[in-house]
Order: sequence, then structure tokens, then C-alpha cells
Amino acid sequence: MQMKTHSIAVIAGDGIGPEVVAEGLGVLRAAADQFGFGLDLVEYPFSTNHWLKTEDIFPDEAFETVKGMDAILLGAIGDPRAPIGLMERGIIGRLRWDLDLWVNLRPIKLLDERFCPLKGKGPSDVDMLVVRENTEDAYVQKPEFENEGTEQEVASQAMRYTYKGTERIIRYAFERAMERPRKHLTLIDKANAVRAQSLYTRIFAALSEEFPEVETAHLYVDAACMRMIENPGSIDVAVTTNLFGDIITDLGAMLQGGMGVAASANLRPGSVSLFEAVHGSFPEAAGKDIANPLATINAVTMMLGYLGEQAAADAVEGAVAELLTTGRIRSLAVGEHGTQEIGRMVIEAMAVQAS
Ligand code: IPM
Ligand code: MN
Repeated sequence: MQMKTHSIAVIAGDGIGPEVVAEGLGVLRAAADQFGFGLDLVEYPFSTNHWLKTEDIFPDEAFETVKGMDAILLGAIGDPRAPIGLMERGIIGRLRWDLDLWVNLRPIKLLDERFCPLKGKGPSDVDMLVVRENTEDAYVQKPEFENEGTEQEVASQAMRYTYKGTERIIRYAFERAMERPRKHLTLIDKANAVRAQSLYTRIFAALSEEFPEVETAHLYVDAACMRMIENPGSIDVAVTTNLFGDIITDLGAMLQGGMGVAASANLRPGSVSLFEAVHGSFPEAAGKDIANPLATINAVTMMLGYLGEQAAADAVEGAVAELLTTGRIRSLAVGEHGTQEIGRMVIEAMAVQAS
């Protein structure tokens, strides 16, 4: 049988990006060996360093090549030497928006009680799937500044939602809810204050008729933050706007053990999609072998599932779960384990499980 080969663009990026991506790639290669698929990895240098040297952020030619690949693995983008947002918007933003990666899927799953900052909460309390809209909202609107730099300044950037963008993300969330045992979906918005978001409320109500098996709930985003702390177990799948999804998934990341483990998939189902940690570039930790690569490794798990390598995805997920639940990974705090040490531990645990 011809071996299946997946073409993957790798953008390690800034700060700790290169270190955590190196470990993610180590795990990906180990999975390819173990499960018998091929990898065609194309590594791109795009980062703040590269921009400082060449003035290139993400050249069109490279962007066109990436479009034809199967997946993208991204480390992290962001560096204080570049103007705020320039690199983030030019690399992460461009990939999300120009490739129309309309789903940002962010699982929040606690594997062991000792990683949760909430007293008395364990794995059965924290198992959510946040479906964040990824192509609309204030993120993609032009910032406007009138009378800039004066006391008469007016700055604005609209929260704008389309029927098409809203319908597809809510439908996607209903479909994900259908696949989970609880079949429960919560809409998170702020339609009481931002009336434009009543588009979410209306489409959610209409689609709930199409998915009668899914039990639905609604929370305003402020109450959702409260609920995620007070009773996280009441949330199964949640769907929300781009900006609110950004905010609540940092909160959610803490519930599952922090930025060291939170992963995300930016999907355009059926097309090239992007996998990355939820965390940023953490420049202070760069080059010190102290950043936790598990978030990137978990993103690799999501990528493997997306590429149809479910057995490999299960193996990586199983290895990580074993290390976390048996206490071999003692803590997720920065510096508790080395970056490379964790990468090695995951690969070893995969080999042990296979034997
Ligand atoms: C994220 C990040 C990005 C976002 C930044 C880097 C633009 O915080 O992926 O959550 O706001 O979406
Ligand atoms: Mn964020």
C-alpha cells in the first residue's frame, strides 16, 4: 500500500515558539514512524527576527504555497521589538482571515485535579469545548481614529457580524454538541448590551429547531466568566463570537492547568487548517528550555485527528494523559520540567504504550 504523506507548513515564530515547535515536531515524527504515514514538512522562518532582517512578514508567494498544503503548525507570534499587533495580524491574522479558517476550536479539559486552581474541582467538572468564531467581529474591522492625538480623539473598531459567518459557526457548534455524550450547547454573547449580537441569539434559536436532541442554554459573557469558575461542569460545548472567545478561553486555559497545556485548531473544514497553542510567545522564557511544550503537543494531537490519523492522535493524547495523571509530570508551572524533557517523556510514553 502506498504510504499516505501529509504536507505541513511549520511556522515556529517568536519567543518560545521555536522551542515548543521543536518538541511538537519530535512527537509528530515519532507518531509518523509508529503509525506509518509520511510527513512533508516545510519550515518557514516568518517571525519578528525575520521581519527585522528582511522586512518580510509573510510574503505572498509563501502564502500561496501554504494554501495548497494539508495543515499548518504555528509556534507563537509576538515580540516587543515590533509595533503592537503588526506580526500577530500579519501572520496569525492573515492565516485565519485570508484562508477563511472560520472555526477556532478550543477544548478545555482538565486531566487531573491537581492542575486546577479551583478548590475541589476535578476532571468531571472541567470538560468543555469552546467554539470560537474566527473570521469576523472587531478583529477584522478597520480601526478608525478621528482627531488622533488630540483631546477630541474618537477611536472606533466595529463589532460586525454577518448571517453567513454566524450561521456556519453556530451550526458547527450544534454538530459538535451532537457528537458528545451530553449534547449540550451554550450560546455566549452580550446581546443585552451589544444589540448587534442579537443576530447570534436569533440564529441560535432557529438552528436549535434543527437539532432537537441538543439541549441549549444561554449566558451573557460576563455571567459565563462567573459560571466557568463557579460551576464549570454546567458547560459542555459553548459557541461565541471571536473577541469573547479569545477572552473566555484564556480563563478556560487556567481551569485545565494553564497556558502550558491549552491548544487550539483554526479550521476551515475540508481545507488547509492551522494548529497552535493558545499561549503567546512568552519572550522572557525564550531560549531557556523552561517553556512547557504540551500546548503545542496537544495542538499536534488536534492536527493528527484533522488529518485523519486518529490512531496516532489517540496515542499522543493517551501518552500526555498518562504523564499528567500518574504524576510523572509533577506540575505545569514554568520551569518545573524542561521543554525538551517533556518532549522526550511524551515520545517515551508513546513507545511504551505501543509495546
Ligand atoms: C489567540 C491570541 C490572538 C487572538 C492574538 C495573538 C491576536 O490571543 O489566539 O487567542 O487574539 O486571537
Ligand atoms: Mn488569546
